[in-house]
Amino acid sequence: MKKISVIGSGMTGISQITKDGFEVINNSKIVLWIGSILGLSDYLLEKNISCENLSHLYKDGGFDVDNYVRIIDCLMTNLHSYSNICLVVPGHPRVGVTIVQLLQQRSKEDGFEFRCYPGISSFDAMINDLGIDPLEEGVGIVDANRLIIYDYAMEPCVNYFIYHVCSVGNANTDYSSPHKNNKISYLKNKLLKHYAPENKIFLLSASVDNSGEPDKIEGSINNLDELFLNITYRHTLYIPALLPSKDRVNFEFLNEIGAI
Ligand SMILES: C[S@@+](CC[C@H](N)C(=O)[O-])C[C@H]1O[C@@H](n2cnc3c(N)ncnc32)[C@H](O)[C@@H]1O
Repeated sequence: MKKISVIGSGMTGISQITKDGFEVINNSKIVLWIGSILGLSDYLLEKNISCENLSHLYKDGGFDVDNYVRIIDCLMTNLHSYSNICLVVPGHPRVGVTIVQLLQQRSKEDGFEFRCYPGISSFDAMINDLGIDPLEEGVGIVDANRLIIYDYAMEPCVNYFIYHVCSVGNANTDYSSPHKNNKISYLKNKLLKHYAPENKIFLLSASVDNSGEPDKIEGSINNLDELFLNITYRHTLYIPALLPSKDRVNFEFLNEIGAI
């Protein structure tokens, strides 16, 4: 049976690809990748593994869905020629990579094997940069567009990591100037339903080059427009957890477990 394996490269390039990931890469007939993955092309050249960077299929200003179709079509063409292909994507393949979900669906329809190998995600990198344990206050990790479309209830006492804030209400991939067509007033209005205008928020970009230096830009919901002038495709909006008010504390439970 033909097979596609998807590997998460982690955040800092091939130094974060797992041993399992390398085993798959070394045994694939061709390795394809999307995005910037430090050291990958050098490694593949050195090992004499057939390879191709598919990032050019992700067109700046292109319609998101067209980009996905181009990439899936290219993968299917490769699968036709080779029995066993590998796709490497930045971070974790299960975090925000539509193509991976589409491929999984396609494997059921077309009858090829699909395997997915985890990598260190931007979420992992951000909690490490921030020095927080997500279980202490809890976290909400959400896509900005779905947050607005479904008007999800937000709980300000947990930390929020809002993904894809570079493309609010914009179905185009404007990676060279993401702030231009970003409909951030929708996000601002959504956040104002749950937070005070002066609530602190941060645009966060975990380091991708081993320098260990994340980008953390502070703003408030009030000045979201100004803050978003700095936005890139590598920024997530982080809203730190607020302390719950005393009237929310379950003193009966605390008493029952002997904590007070
Ligand atoms: C298409 S998703 C891919 C995420 C990737 N698969 C991962 O595991 O991190 C892109 C979104 O991930 C987030 N992201 C990507 N790189 C990041 C970084 N270096 N720091 C923080 N967030 C990042 C942003 O929210 C961006 O809109």
